[in-house]
Amino acid sequence: MVLFPHAKINLGLNVVRKRHDGYHDIESVLIPISLRDALEAIVDPDVPAGKVQFTRTGLLIPSDSSNDLVMKAHAALQADYALPGLRMHLHKVIPTGAGLGGGSSDAVHALLLLDKLLEMRIPESTLRDMAAGIGSDCPFFLNNRAQLAEARGEKLRPLAIDLSGYWLMLVNPGLHISTPEVFANTTPTGESSNLAYALAETPMRGWRLVARNVMEDFVFAAYPEVQVIRDRMLAMGAEHAAMSGSGSTVFGLFLEAPPAQKWPSDYRQWVFQLGE
Ligand code: C5P
Repeated sequence: MVLFPHAKINLGLNVVRKRHDGYHDIESVLIPISLRDALEAIVDPDVPAGKVQFTRTGLLIPSDSSNDLVMKAHAALQADYALPGLRMHLHKVIPTGAGLGGGSSDAVHALLLLDKLLEMRIPESTLRDMAAGIGSDCPFFLNNRAQLAEARGEKLRPLAIDLSGYWLMLVNPGLHISTPEVFANTTPTGESSNLAYALAETPMRGWRLVARNVMEDFVFAAYPEVQVIRDRMLAMGAEHAAMSGSGSTVFGLFLEAPPAQKWPSDYRQWVFQLGE
């Protein structure tokens, strides 16, 4: 059985405060996008029960495959359920350390895939708890729709934000940016930005002011090439352009298909029209 874990972009990202548990309360609107990995699982009687033979292809991932979030998802399931021997394969298309949530989506889709393949019928609340235990932005990927994320990222509310028809340009400069490093260097704003309301009530050209990604301050200073991409998208006529999550990917939203751009050879670029 194969699932296709999707990526996300963040419309606005407010780091509200540092919490006593070391995490931060955030406020962000996450939108699923159709850039996808592929994740396959099969039951293999030659693999001992509870074990998994895991392989990866596609984009290189800097960390060892035993530390992959797919393995963390398997371990979380194995802790509560008796699993048969499995083979799993992940084909990476979504770059890592890119602010696109690829690893988190892979982990959540591993839970969904094994639930489906093994007909486990795991209760939704258990899936939510498992996802939140794997990573702060994991629960978002349980539902393929726009959501407002608050608290650590696990408090979610569906939003009726419709970007269908817009053209999305994604540019990744090939930089792997560490999320904890960005959180540690971002000054919390101390207040809610009423993000869902601001996005709904403000024309897209004003989103840069009312729905800022506050992580840009540190990342643009530490990695100026990320800001160069954002500025170029605005100069190309983007209605809105911003860094996604903790970077390094920048996205631009356009009314018309943006003209092909020449970026440095180690950059990756995707352009597609958003659907319903
Ligand atoms: O939850 P996750 O493992 O994805 O978070 C990675 C790191 O990012 C955390 O260890 C923490 O340093 C930081 N983080 C945070 N506040 C959040 C989410 C992540 O400080 N809401």
